[in-house]
Amino acid sequence: MPHKRPFVFINAAMSADGKIATIERRQTRISGSLDFDRMDELRASSDAVMVGIGTVLSDNPSLTVKSQMRREKRRAEGRDENPVRIVVDSMARTPADADIFKKGAGKKIIAVTEMAPKEKVKQLAQNAEIIVSGETKVDLEKLLSELRARGISRMMVEGGATLNWGLVSMGLVDEIYTFVGNTIIGGKTAPTLVDGEGFTSDFCKLSLISCERLEDGVLVRWKVSGAL
Ligand SMILES: NC(=O)c1ccc[n+]([C@@H]2O[C@H](COP(=O)([O-])OP(=O)(O)OC[C@H]3O[C@@H](n4cnc5c(N)ncnc54)[C@H](OP(=O)(O)O)[C@@H]3O)[C@@H](O)[C@H]2O)c1
Repeated sequence: MPHKRPFVFINAAMSADGKIATIERRQTRISGSLDFDRMDELRASSDAVMVGIGTVLSDNPSLTVKSQMRREKRRAEGRDENPVRIVVDSMARTPADADIFKKGAGKKIIAVTEMAPKEKVKQLAQNAEIIVSGETKVDLEKLLSELRARGISRMMVEGGATLNWGLVSMGLVDEIYTFVGNTIIGGKTAPTLVDGEGFTSDFCKLSLISCERLEDGVLVRWKVSGAL
């Protein structure tokens, strides 16, 4: 039976108290150069990288592969030097001058809903493929099946907290990598690895694949039980 969606994994860096950014939702350096390099390798090994619009508006990431050697390797394999960069963005709020458009070659996809303002969608369509999925909030299950149909079989999710919840709560994540750094950020409104509404029962269970020391932190790799 053909796969209905790509293999999906989340990668995130979090503080010792589980925060992935500050109370101002500002990105802060949690991990060191070894973890950055590990993350770059994961990106380079993926067909696509996905983020939520909250992350684009807070951090404006380029989501490009940083190592020239890895980019060349991808090209030698006949692939674009960067994975497809995907933004989950119901109302097409992605700025037209976002770094994903300005930095690095390769395809971009903006996933919007039927409610997204037509003018904004038209503008984004000049630089990206638009996938319309869902009425008011992006239908992630449908989106993932559209992505699989476009040949994306391995997808890395780089946050943030709300998109992580959307995917985890729907059983659409296979593995989670977390680098836990030696910092406490604190603050009850600072985003954590998974926010959203939260489970009240039937919690999402994980099984440990590996755990290793990396610089002054710990890299933990989990398999998500019961992924669909
Ligand atoms: N440390 C790390 O590894 C790391 C990595 C990435 C991000 N971050 C941090 O995370 C924070 C951003 O997280 P965030 O929670 O604010 O935003 P986010 O998860 O990046 O984006 C969430 C947004 O995606 C859109 N969305 C559309 N359909 C959705 C669906 N079905 N499920 C979930 N979301 C959907 C919603 O906005 P619309 O309704 O407008 O579409 C939602 O508010 C920033 O502070 C950033 O610095 C940290």
